[in-house]
Amino acid sequence: MERTPIKNLTPGREVKIQGFVEKIRDTRAMAFLVVRDRSGKVQVTLDKTNPAFAQLLAELTAESVVTVEGYVAGNKNVKLNGIELLPEVLRVESVAAPIPLTKDSAIDVKLDYRWLCFRGEREQLLFRAQTLMAAAMRSFLLARGFVEIHTPKLIGAASESGADVFEVGYFGRKAYLAQSPQFYKQMAMAGGLERVFEVGPVFRAEKSYTSRHTTEFTGFDLEFSYIESFRDVMRLEAELLAHALGEVRAQYGEEIARLYDVEVVVPALPFPEIRLGDLYAELEKRYGYAVPEQERGDMTTEAEQLAYRFSMEEYGHEFLFITGFAADKRAFYHMREGGVPQGYDLVWRGVEITTGAQREHRYERLRSQAQERGLGEDVRFYLEFFKYGCPPHGGFGLGLDRLTMLLLNIPIKEAMFLFRGPNRLTP
Ligand code: 4AD
Ligand code: MG
Repeated sequence: MERTPIKNLTPGREVKIQGFVEKIRDTRAMAFLVVRDRSGKVQVTLDKTNPAFAQLLAELTAESVVTVEGYVAGNKNVKLNGIELLPEVLRVESVAAPIPLTKDSAIDVKLDYRWLCFRGEREQLLFRAQTLMAAAMRSFLLARGFVEIHTPKLIGAASESGADVFEVGYFGRKAYLAQSPQFYKQMAMAGGLERVFEVGPVFRAEKSYTSRHTTEFTGFDLEFSYIESFRDVMRLEAELLAHALGEVRAQYGEEIARLYDVEVVVPALPFPEIRLGDLYAELEKRYGYAVPEQERGDMTTEAEQLAYRFSMEEYGHEFLFITGFAADKRAFYHMREGGVPQGYDLVWRGVEITTGAQREHRYERLRSQAQERGLGEDVRFYLEFFKYGCPPHGGFGLGLDRLTMLLLNIPIKEAMFLFRGPNRLTP
């Protein structure tokens, strides 16, 4: 018999279901199991006068995996959807040892047994919502002629700055784990691909212990050519996010509200924008926040958080673009005009989710901006990309895990399939 998803069970049918045993209630004559698959739950009612069932029950534990074949009966007394499954066949596929987790286990214990958490309703929703979000972003880009690329993560030289890069042994010499697909996205521009994106792993050797940092995450990166300014990049990103959040709200808005107590808001276009200097002036005026002098050219964590408050008060908007960073705080490849990097950060609900920019595509300027930072040998291969003609272009990097984390208002450790941090390499 073919397996039926539990949510499709209707009275009056012979079916086969398979899933985890969520609950076992054993009485003298009868036993009641709640069996769960990814689609739903159903009560299985066992008649213990059947000796085969009685024997199986003796070994059955919570979270064991079973196959049940039988008849679906309507029964008003059953709280769970008013139906029960009366089995003819009950097979225990796998017996579960006692579950080492409770709702109140410490986060590190939960991470040790991450797969057991996946069995919960919230986590199941998380993965469905994240899948839809990424799929919506992907289809948005495909409809606009973007192609998806898959760039190497093992590289011969540090990709962005040299700091925060993991070194790995590579047949007797050193290799590094890519900190972003930045250089290769730009290589694609020099190769005339015009519009590319990549969804893939990004590695950062940052010893950060915050609710939003991880040493390996999934980057959603894109790059496109023949832009007039970085505002074209900002516009595309705003449209992309509004589209994705629209899909997530339509499909999962209610479940997210129920299980995470968060409203999915579809952001209005265009997103508000403010220059960094103006933002600091506002934060000081409104909230008495004085940024340390040496941090003035960049966003601080406190400023990100206050930027959310400001953006809600001033524009009624959860997203805020910040422009006008100091050149020495930004990557060397950002195009500059009058010394100002032509780029932005996007803050959502008080956390940076994106850095984007128009890139310097003119070989000589790019080379001198790299030299200023003392980047020589490391970027030699990259500079080559710009020697033989390269269109003006720009793009951004968006952290998919941060997007999920902010969508559901949870720490990044709980927003990822598996978190990686300075103290965590397992499971
Ligand atoms: O801001 P970042 O470092 O920018 C770049 O990688 C550039 N190459 C992007 C570009 O195209 N100009 O990283 C991009 C995004 C961040 O905004 C954040 O969402 C995420 O990646 N991110 C992290 N997420 C989790 N843990 C970390 N340690 C992260 N570092 C960056
Ligand atoms: Mg950044």
